[in-house]
Amino acid sequence: MAFDSLRDFLGHLEAAGELRRLTQPVASELEITELADREMKKPGGGQALLVEKPTVNGQISPFPLAINALGSYRRMALSLGAPSIEEAAAALGALVKAKPPASFKEALQLLGTAFDLRHARPKRVKDGACQEVIHHFDAPPPRTTPWPPAPDWRTPAAFDPRPPTLLNLPIQQCWPLDGGRFLTLPCVVTRDPDTGARNVGMYRMQVYDERTTGLHWQLQKVAARHGRRYYETGTRMPVAVFLGGDPVYTFCATAPLPDGLDEFLLAGYLRQKSAELVRCQTCDLEVPADADFVLEGYVDPAEPLREEGPFGDHTGFYSLPDRYPVFHLTAITHRQRAIYPATIVGPPPMEDYYIGSASVKLFLPILKMTFPELVDLALPAEGVFHNLVFVSIKKTYPMQAFKIMHGLWGMGQMMFAKYIVVVDDDVDVHNSREVLFHLCANTDPQRDALFTKGPADVLDHATPVLGVGSKMGMDATRKLPGEGHPRDWPPLIQMPEAVRQKIRSMLA
Ligand SMILES: Cc1cc2nc3c(=O)[nH]c(=O)nc-3n(C[C@H](O)[C@H](O)[C@H](O)COP(=O)(O)O)c2cc1C
Repeated sequence: MAFDSLRDFLGHLEAAGELRRLTQPVASELEITELADREMKKPGGGQALLVEKPTVNGQISPFPLAINALGSYRRMALSLGAPSIEEAAAALGALVKAKPPASFKEALQLLGTAFDLRHARPKRVKDGACQEVIHHFDAPPPRTTPWPPAPDWRTPAAFDPRPPTLLNLPIQQCWPLDGGRFLTLPCVVTRDPDTGARNVGMYRMQVYDERTTGLHWQLQKVAARHGRRYYETGTRMPVAVFLGGDPVYTFCATAPLPDGLDEFLLAGYLRQKSAELVRCQTCDLEVPADADFVLEGYVDPAEPLREEGPFGDHTGFYSLPDRYPVFHLTAITHRQRAIYPATIVGPPPMEDYYIGSASVKLFLPILKMTFPELVDLALPAEGVFHNLVFVSIKKTYPMQAFKIMHGLWGMGQMMFAKYIVVVDDDVDVHNSREVLFHLCANTDPQRDALFTKGPADVLDHATPVLGVGSKMGMDATRKLPGEGHPRDWPPLIQMPEAVRQKIRSMLA
């Protein structure tokens, strides 16, 4: 199901009892974080919040701010227009299974074909709501008088037509030691200068001033690879950033798609309608016509990298300052009644847990095609994505648990997995207590642990070198002959189902 706009999606959430509106002013400096953090920590992720009057340095912004819009399994499913993420995953799995791939590469190619099957290719359109208001930065600077009181978010007549700059959008300073204000849900569009392949990735942006920001694309991400090519050739790199629109775009920007596969294909497939893209005003890139805001600009390879951070990160710690490219704005365009989308990251669980879990669930059927023994996989919230991976397998031959560890470490962003625990197929990987029980009971640490090395998440403050780290795998499966366990393996204590059922009915 396609949503016409972020506002349309929020309307759906409100009708479903999934949205709460805050009518009183809330400061974009820390207060929105405190508000959203309390909501995100509620069981199941709480509700989406629409802050109707976010303030910036005490002034009410003309743009409401939406936060936690994807922060529950239900809202994630609603954003994909599916009854549940599992059903969306099953549909994608069935599509790809139509012609079983012989290799992982083929599975990925097939993914592209699968998206094509549903006519998911993006469509170029002449104009779009995201360009209802256009502000070129070569034009005279905007007026600096304060914004008038915020209009009711549903009343178009009250809109103030003055174009915004980065300094009066409700961009948050999330945590006390943050180096400044950060755009937290920007979808960053870049192109591979060699192949022309487009990428959409979500990389936070620190606001330096009215016209420049940092671009925190980490070393191993696709836009960073694109960037390195522009630095090698010394050519100016066009970058377009969009915020809002159909929420499926936000999800797709975070999804770990293989380099070269256009996120708009996945978006088109999921929303069952081609993404409609409009050309930017000042650069040769395209953005969704229904986006709420578009920041157009470039990175200049001749300019030195600039310090970015610190930033209260999804690790639960501040990521320390580091040097990243500078993004120069050439234009801001936006919808007349744009809503500014945001999130916060910090000590888990946060909204990003649900976004990440949706990716895992959606791509599990494709992983299973490469690893037929794989039964289920979970990234518990405490592991803040890839620090901790629980995987269950149907083991049929010795050392298969180690085979799956190596396989996962070699696959895309699974390279960041710090700890992988492999359990048997009868263990529920979504129940951390059950996994820990089997981990403790079934392992002899020296025999069952594997240490290796590889690329690490640059946000991991525990690795001695940035982006380089060690990894540990634990084989917590029952041991087979040939796995160095000469003794008998004891049966697990279990009550027959008939007895359980009888006592259940007796107590009911
Ligand atoms: C809320 C949120 C914020 C994120 N911020 C960043 C970031 O600042 N830098 C980064 O490299 N990845 C960040 N990520 C992860 C990337 O979006 C993710 O790895 C994505 O797959 C990258 O796209 P790519 O593979 O096209 O590079 C963030 C993810 C989420 C959900």
